[in-house]
Amino acid sequence: MPVSEPLASSVIATDNTTAQYVTQSLRSRAQGARQGQVTLPSYFYTGDEILQLELQAIFDKEWICIGRSDEVPEAGDYVTTQVLNEPLILLRDEQGDLQVLSNVCRHRCMKVADGSGKKARGFTCPYHAWSYDLKGKLIAAPRMKEDGFKMVDHDLAQVRFEQWQGFVYVNLDGKAEPLAPRLTGLDTILANYHTDQMLHHFSQEDVWHCNWKALVENFMEGYHLNCVHPQTLRPITPTSRAKKLPDGPGYTAYAANYNQGYEARKFKHEDLSGEEANRSSLFCVYPSHIASQSPHLLVYMAIQPLTSSSLKVRWGMSIRSLDMVGQGMDALEALWTRVNAEDKAKLEGLQATYSSRHAQAGPLAPEDLEGTIKDFHRYLARMLEH
Ligand code: FES
Ligand SMILES: [Fe+2]
Repeated sequence: MPVSEPLASSVIATDNTTAQYVTQSLRSRAQGARQGQVTLPSYFYTGDEILQLELQAIFDKEWICIGRSDEVPEAGDYVTTQVLNEPLILLRDEQGDLQVLSNVCRHRCMKVADGSGKKARGFTCPYHAWSYDLKGKLIAAPRMKEDGFKMVDHDLAQVRFEQWQGFVYVNLDGKAEPLAPRLTGLDTILANYHTDQMLHHFSQEDVWHCNWKALVENFMEGYHLNCVHPQTLRPITPTSRAKKLPDGPGYTAYAANYNQGYEARKFKHEDLSGEEANRSSLFCVYPSHIASQSPHLLVYMAIQPLTSSSLKVRWGMSIRSLDMVGQGMDALEALWTRVNAEDKAKLEGLQATYSSRHAQAGPLAPEDLEGTIKDFHRYLARMLEH
């Protein structure tokens, strides 16, 4: 182990010492030799102080994925969601442009929209009927005749967002550097899959009772595939064929290569090379957007912490062709539902043992199997050091 680790109990002492121990521990991992890398100490997955650091230093400042832009394909289509404490509306306005609005009424803070909808002309708050148009402009405020009240002062807040490869990300503090420049290497990996053209099939939100980092790490390593998914993924993407891909400032990635002889995908894009057509390319856009791009299917998870031991995940599937509906999509949905259940069971079990006094940092497997975890820890170090 590169440095002596603080005991979990001493880490909970004060905010300052927590930050110091966290950064010391992460820095040692970021700078450590390739051989002998170790996992994070278990208190990283259980400590409320560490979660508070992550919320302030990462989730408030970074680009957080909220879904796909074609979930709202036409003017007036909208979906509501929430990132940390911020209720949001993702919608398409009358000009066909995407908008992300704060879903908090400027009168007394009621949510102005719920669920999702199509062809809305605007939003009317259910409390006192203030109405907003699709750009968030206040257009009606019944009986508001007070001197000095000006409609123009009370529009819904617009939330900074960016689109990349068909995904939509928000930046809550509004100060992040643009997202796309740090993902150019990942654009190269995904170019022939044409991820931006994948078609929305479904998305839903779930709660998992584990730390958010544990799900990111689990999704991004191929070491567990044989063991956790013996009947679902092992026949397709066995552990032995996992291969690390180059990482970049905003992401890490690996190739889950298909078993030799595994049936080629019918609905693949014609631009794919033979190598690309015979693998799923798994990637993480830091901090918490993970996805598997295969020739015919895009499966993604947009994760955010709820507590140190629970998370909310919005996960979905996009497809290469609408012809896939009715031609095997039921089986693909069932496969991924089962894969997720297999991972969830393991991660929720893991969360329970993280509190043991014997839960200590262990060695990471070789680069092709768990190198992505090391990349992720480097990113955490960069963000939490400041
Ligand atoms: S809280 Fe929305 S109109 Fe009063
Ligand atoms: Fe898994």
